[in-house]
Amino acid sequence: MAGAMYYAQKLSGRRLQRCYEIAPERVCQYLEAEIAHAVGRLRQSDEVLELGCGYGRIARRIAREVARVVGVDTAAASLELAKRVSRATDRLDFLHMDAIDLHFPDGTFDAVLCLQNGICAFGVDQERLVKEALRVTREGGIVLLSSYSDKFWPHRLAWFEAQAKEGLVGQVDRIASKDGVIVCQDGFRAGRLTPDDFRALCSRIGIDGQVCEVEESSIFCEITKGSAGQQADTAERPAPGRRSAER
Ligand SMILES: C[S@@+](CC[C@H](N)C(=O)[O-])C[C@H]1O[C@@H](n2cnc3c(N)ncnc32)[C@H](O)[C@@H]1O
Repeated sequence: MAGAMYYAQKLSGRRLQRCYEIAPERVCQYLEAEIAHAVGRLRQSDEVLELGCGYGRIARRIAREVARVVGVDTAAASLELAKRVSRATDRLDFLHMDAIDLHFPDGTFDAVLCLQNGICAFGVDQERLVKEALRVTREGGIVLLSSYSDKFWPHRLAWFEAQAKEGLVGQVDRIASKDGVIVCQDGFRAGRLTPDDFRALCSRIGIDGQVCEVEESSIFCEITKGSAGQQADTAERPAPGRRSAER
């Protein structure tokens, strides 16, 4: 597993930022499409939590579109960089917190995001992660999770090869890396969730999740926190693709 320790010790702050700076063009396209899809599901009035926010790459973009964003991460160096490069605004906060042990009361946020394959990269119990995300989501709010589409595998592999070349992660183990799992020789390991994996996860928890593929690069699972008022509230949400993220 990649996990919190791996990121905190080996891939945080400037090193994490560098991974995104060297992303090949097709990967940049995927990263943009992922943000655009998430923004498309948010409302301007939403208070949003991002799990595993890193140096704030996604949170800063989302903050331009909604009322408030809180990003949490377990890597101190990434949070420091996030605060340093963000403009001072009371609409964006970064806090040190574990995604499976959030220090927020029940129902604090309208939307909780766990993007860029956080569900696999954190290396945590995935049921616990989703339940904790739902706990801090308001009734009628949404949890948005994303992982990699298998169609994107060659591009994902090429991106990790580029990261390894720069010494950001260990050499990619080309024999062990397969079936959606990237394995590097320094202990990095991250899989992905297929649409069926997401459906099975939701079914184990006893919730409904809407799964879709975005741009042949990511798989999104959207869970609406059930409530009597769920229909009225979700009706106000823009349909996918109706809003677009500013660059
Ligand atoms: C693949 S990086 C993605 C960073 C950011 N979401 C982005 O896309 O730019 C995964 C992030 O999750 C963080 N992380 C790992 N385990 C975590 C946990 N249990 N709780 C919160 N954050 C965690 C890592 O420190 C790292 O910043």
